[in-house]
Amino acid sequence: ISTVNPGLVSPTCTRAPSLRRIIRKALSEEKRVSTKTSAADLVTETDHVVEALILQELQQRFPSHRELLTLEPDRWIPRFIAEEAAAAGAKCVLTPSPTWIVDPIDGTCNFVHRFPTVAVSIGFAVNQELEFGVIYHCTEERLYTGRRGRGAFCNGQRLRVSGETDLSKALVLTEIGPRRDPTTLKLFLSNMERLLRAGAHGVRVIGSSTLALCHLASGAADAYYQFGLHCWDLAAATVIIREAGGVVMDTSGGPLDLMSCRVVAAGTREMAVLIAQALQTINYGRDDER
Ligand code: IPD
Repeated sequence: ISTVNPGLVSPTCTRAPSLRRIIRKALSEEKRVSTKTSAADLVTETDHVVEALILQELQQRFPSHRELLTLEPDRWIPRFIAEEAAAAGAKCVLTPSPTWIVDPIDGTCNFVHRFPTVAVSIGFAVNQELEFGVIYHCTEERLYTGRRGRGAFCNGQRLRVSGETDLSKALVLTEIGPRRDPTTLKLFLSNMERLLRAGAHGVRVIGSSTLALCHLASGAADAYYQFGLHCWDLAAATVIIREAGGVVMDTSGGPLDLMSCRVVAAGTREMAVLIAQALQTINYGRDDER
């Protein structure tokens, strides 16, 4: 861990250019697109390439970040939770061992459509506690970083959340999530309606959970909520928001559960509680029970 200091990482660090090049080049090209859990849950070959590069690099740099499979003595496994590995059936269990939590391309649907809001997100946890997070906005070359107890930054500039406590003055962000069945859509739209009826200035959907959460961390929005996101969408952003002075909690108003596929985050606790109280739950199950 001592060799990774997100506060010092800049977009010109050694590995960033190659990932940036791969993603930016692919963004403008035709892509082979497949679907995962639904017709709106997309994946491209670039998601796989980027994930493999990140995992390979982390494994080389941190060979001790692995865990003994207790059922199979002497068999060690690297401690990664990564979106495409999970889609291929790998278990998402957060153990006390040092664990890297990776979303190779967040905003894959944007990426497929060449909508330039796409990020790479890497979080790190030890003892089931999130220690740091790095989110890279691939087209605007913004690197968001946060380390527990050491602050949150965007390209070296300190981040600070908004201090808004009044929902009727709030700009709120959300994402749709992967499901499109009538019940889920009805709940999704009715949650939006509830916030707008409560007077929120606006509700925005930008197509990337991680970058929406970074907007919250930088004070450009006052709150974020979502049902249907995953631990790799949340891990890095949670550290960044908390270090920017914000609150990340469960939609029930209780503590955040990284595996619960739901979240409310805000610049202030008052705002987070108001949002949580307004929402109806959409049950997406748990990442660690798939
Ligand atoms: C998704 C995006 C999307 C959100 C989903 C996420 P992906 O991540 O952030 O905006 O609605 O819940 O899982 O699949 O593009 O990495």
